[in-house]
Formats: sequence, structure tokens, C-alpha cells
Amino acid sequence: MIDDAVIVTGGAGFIGSHLVDRLLESGFQVTVVDDFSVGSEENLKRAVKFGSYLQIVRQDLTGPELLGIVEKISPRYIFHLAAQSDVRHSTADPLFDAKVNVLGSLNVIESARRVGVERVIYAASGGTLYGEPEAVLFPLTESIRHQPLSNYGVSKKVVLDYLAAYKSLYSLDYVALALANVFGPRQDPHGESGVVSIFAGQLVSNQRCIIFGDGNQTRDFVFVTDVVDAFLRSLDSGSGQVFNISSSMETSVFELYSAMANILASSMEPEFLEGRVGELRRSCLSNLKAREILGWEPKVSLADGLGQVIEWVKGRS
Ligand SMILES: NC(=O)c1ccc[n+]([C@@H]2O[C@H](COP(=O)([O-])OP(=O)(O)OC[C@H]3O[C@@H](n4cnc5c(N)ncnc54)[C@H](O)[C@@H]3O)[C@@H](O)[C@H]2O)c1
Repeated sequence: MIDDAVIVTGGAGFIGSHLVDRLLESGFQVTVVDDFSVGSEENLKRAVKFGSYLQIVRQDLTGPELLGIVEKISPRYIFHLAAQSDVRHSTADPLFDAKVNVLGSLNVIESARRVGVERVIYAASGGTLYGEPEAVLFPLTESIRHQPLSNYGVSKKVVLDYLAAYKSLYSLDYVALALANVFGPRQDPHGESGVVSIFAGQLVSNQRCIIFGDGNQTRDFVFVTDVVDAFLRSLDSGSGQVFNISSSMETSVFELYSAMANILASSMEPEFLEGRVGELRRSCLSNLKAREILGWEPKVSLADGLGQVIEWVKGRS
């Protein structure tokens, strides 16, 4: 048993809850700090079976109480995943987005420094960090200029700058994982983001899927258990660095739809609506650095992952 204490902010959310399951299975003492604004107890159903190894603290990240919580737990590591993670909401309410993603993250980092946490592992946004650079640069590496084109992308990027500053000023160690488009069970099928879950929800209930734009826009889909594996590998390697966590494969939204419709033997055609303002045309991140330094590689194929999401959605409906 490892028996180290860790905090997972956002541990009741989609990715966070999978990470919590894995940490508990590995023998960590896990405290989830989440305000349950998006996350749910349902996501923690498996984790609660670990009894006293799991503690759940319902707390807004931005509150002054956070320091006291971190002091009490005195964790060796903090996995920081809590965020306002909806790009469109960041456009509608940029102040709220910055409050949660910038000030909330700074509250986590400052608490970590004061308590002497060994390392903060941060869920950065690989899909928004680099903006839309010229075609020759694809797949995008970590050395490409960080030039986000959305408020959400900016608020997530700023945290990388704070983490680097805190490492230089106070030797607070960190790893930042720039996640591509993560998909898997527990991603909200009724939410605004997560095209895989949205299509799965619509296809399973025989509704026509909507594709915004011509469907040729590409994304880089990486399965949630592979992402969790990258978080675990960041405990003891990659100090002070940013890593793309991605499949490095470009899949168009129409290809994604076709693959899912195929699994469900659906012949329904999707409906195409006008593209969304500000939506990126291409997204594909190189994962070479994570392979070399973290010894990480994606293991779950897109087809297998899609099958798992569809089964999960079927089980809920
Ligand atoms: N899902 C993706 O494809 C993806 C891609 C890149 C980066 N990320 C990042 O990974 C992290 C997790 O994403 P997710 O998809 O699991 O999102 P999610 O919305 O499912 O999880 C976020 C969690 O944070 C909690 N939260 C939100 N505001 C909070 C606050 N003020 N105080 C405490 N808790 C709060 C929510 O209740 C939720 O449980 C986020 O930081 C996100 O920016 C996600």
C-alpha cells in the first residue's frame, strides 16, 4: 500500500472521478475537493466503496476555506482538475470563468506552497492552448507558442505561467498535462462539450445528431483511462514540464459520427447546422514528449473507446 495523502480538485467530475478510482485502487488516501457544480455523487459511486480511504469535501475552490482544508489533509500531491470547463460559458461570462480557473487555481497553488505540497499536477487544455497555428506545424508540439483564442483557453494558460513562477520562486514542483479531447464514460451527454457523449446520447435514443459546420473540422480524441495513466506517471517524472496527452491522430467530426453510427448500425443521417463562431478547424497534438519522458502512450483505440461510451450511455437510458 502507498498510503500517501493526495487531493483531487474536481474529483467528482468526468476525468477527476476516473482518476480518483485509479488512485484508490493504487492505495492512496484520496480527498476530493469539489463544489459539485458539475460533478456528481453518481461519478463517485465506485470510489465510496473504498471507505475511509476516500474523503469528500464539498467546497468551492475560490473560497478562503481552501487553505484550511489543504492544511488539514497535508497532502503529498495535489491533482488540480476543478475548472469551469465550458468554452462557450467562458465567452458568455468571462469574469466567472477567470474567477474559477485563474483565482481558484491560484488559491490551490498558494495553498500548496504554504502547506509544503511536493508536487501539483495540473489538467491544462491542449485543445485550446496553442490556438490555430499554420498547417505545417501539425501535429502541434509543446514548444509551439501558447496563443489561446478563447477566454477559457486564456484562463487555463495563465495557470501554467503561475506554476512556472511558483517553481522558480518557491521550488513548488509541478507537471502540467495539456489534454486533447478527452472522451469516455461519465462525460455529460447532456452538456455543452464532449461531442462523443453527445452523439452517443442522441444515437442511442434515436435522435438525429447535429453537426455544426461541414463536419470536416478535426479533433484529437484520447480515452479517459489513458489520461488517468498520464496523471499517475506524472507523480515521479516530468518535473516542471508541460506534456501533450493526446492520440496524435486527427479525426473529423463526420468520421467520428460515422464510426459511432456504424457501431450502433444506425443509418440516420446527421443534420448540418451553421458552424460555431470561434471553433477551431483543426486540432492534433504530438504526444512524442509524453512518450519519451513520461513513458506514456495511449492504449485504448478510438473504436474501443467509442464502444465503451456507447455501452455506458445504453446502461443509463
Ligand atoms: N474533458 C476534456 O476534454 C478536457 C480537455 C482538456 C482539459 N480538460 C481539463 O480537465 C479538467 C477536468 O475536466 P472534465 O472534463 O472532467 O470537466 P468536469 O466539468 O466534468 O469536471 C470539473 C469538476 O470541477 C468541479 N468544479 C467546477 N468549479 C468548481 C469550483 N469553483 N470549486 C470546486 N470544484 C469546482 C465541477 O463540479 C466538476 O466536478 C478541467 O480542468 C478541464 O479544463 C478537460
